[in-house]
Amino acid sequence: MKKAAGKTAVIIGAQWGDEGKGKIVDVLSQNFQVVARYAGGHNAGHTVIINGKKFILQLVPCGVLRPGCLSVIGNGVVLDPMAFLKEVGALRANHVAVDGHLFVSNRAHVILPYHRMIELASENAPGRVKIGTTSRGIGPTYEDKMGRRGLRVADMFDSATMEQHIENACREKNTIAHALFNSAPIDPHQMFEEYATAAEELRPFVRDTAALLNRSLREGKNIMFEGAQGTMLDIDHGSYPFVTSSSATSGGAVIGTGVPPNAIQDVIGITKAYCTRVGEGPFPTELHGADGEDLRAKGNEYGAVTGRPRRCGWLDLPLLRYSAMINGFTWLVVTKLDVLDHLAEIPVCVGYRVDGKPTDEIPARGTGYEKIECIYKTMPGWRTPTVGIDHFDKLPQAAQEYLRFIERETDAPIGMVSTGPDRDQTMLVKGFAEAFGVTMDGGESHG
Ligand code: GDP
Ligand code: IMO
Ligand code: MG
Repeated sequence: MKKAAGKTAVIIGAQWGDEGKGKIVDVLSQNFQVVARYAGGHNAGHTVIINGKKFILQLVPCGVLRPGCLSVIGNGVVLDPMAFLKEVGALRANHVAVDGHLFVSNRAHVILPYHRMIELASENAPGRVKIGTTSRGIGPTYEDKMGRRGLRVADMFDSATMEQHIENACREKNTIAHALFNSAPIDPHQMFEEYATAAEELRPFVRDTAALLNRSLREGKNIMFEGAQGTMLDIDHGSYPFVTSSSATSGGAVIGTGVPPNAIQDVIGITKAYCTRVGEGPFPTELHGADGEDLRAKGNEYGAVTGRPRRCGWLDLPLLRYSAMINGFTWLVVTKLDVLDHLAEIPVCVGYRVDGKPTDEIPARGTGYEKIECIYKTMPGWRTPTVGIDHFDKLPQAAQEYLRFIERETDAPIGMVSTGPDRDQTMLVKGFAEAFGVTMDGGESHG
């Protein structure tokens, strides 16, 4: 294939998700003609606020909010047709143009009601490791995909195949769920009727999206790959088993959309100015007392999808360096700087110590995390509001130093800083604006 003339970038959560990816995709999408999701499903919740109007996107890429931008749900996503149609309905009700602008891969795997049933039952089963999932059926759907017994979007248009698939799967899942968890059985006939109806509504959106994306590459269009979840939730590289079931890291963009690895030019890591995590699992810099509650309140740290309170802690640089290594960040974006505005001092974890010895390695096992002792450096706070500051040089000196410190420690240049949830509350750092052809005068949108 000829080398792409357009720009391509993948947006990655550098921590445990909810870093503000949606907002950053939205700002950048002013100069991207295509935005593609490549992993996860409606476990994601990407918030975009445009002139005070809030959108929470779960499956649909945030590019949909830009008129003329094509949105693609790639093969690596697991698609709940009902959730998708509901989201499309909500977008239409908000006068967002979806028809002819939004496409779903024919190779994406389908989430069915028994996936949710199995997940709910197994999460609560005695002796199981509780992950604290979003209960959307994500894990069991990826299990069926890897087990080569999944239903793909393309199969929904062959009525006999889908009926047979649902019947066989229900027999198997009902037996397992009854034997293991004593769950009530699911009726395959009703399920088939509902999904056959949904298939007809879904049909106009379905394409060979790998072909569509590669065509867009050849045409020199700018394409952004919108990551969901975060590096530490990646099935391979995250804090296993407390992870999601997909490849959330930059490599996933290739597998999850069908573009070749050499088509991706930039990898933009999104990090909060501190850390959060939802659900169970290790979190070395977690704050359990008043400081954690303070960050939660100031940062409004409640899940966009589940409303669950997010666990909060200080910035973890060993983790961020690991994330930069796995993903190959060419740029870093720091969000929620404003949440630290009131602090006199800001502790940052600069290293780990295990059994008295300094280490930068991220443990492969949960028990390894328990042994971590975080080494903190205390940075001076700025105690001045940064909300809406539009230029890096206008930030308080201590805030500039905080950001420069992160940059040095991760060896990734900071391209953007976010100091509020609204699209406008963002500053572009020199070099980044030019690299991606973006400005902060807003651009056209549905907001
Ligand atoms: P995503 O999943 O990575 O897209 O992030 P979420 O939307 O789940 O969570 C990020 C939350 O932080 C949302 O409520 C955003 O509106 C909000 N947010 C994003 N950037 C900023 C920021 O710079 N400052 C503040 N205070 N809130 C922000
Ligand atoms: P965005 O894209 C934060 C977490 C869940 C749970 C674990 C597994 O908005 O950043 P799953 O339902 O995926 O099997 O749950 O992963 N999780 C997220 N946490 N942001 C997300 O997405 C998440 N998606 C999944 O809380 O701990
Ligand atoms: Mg989110």
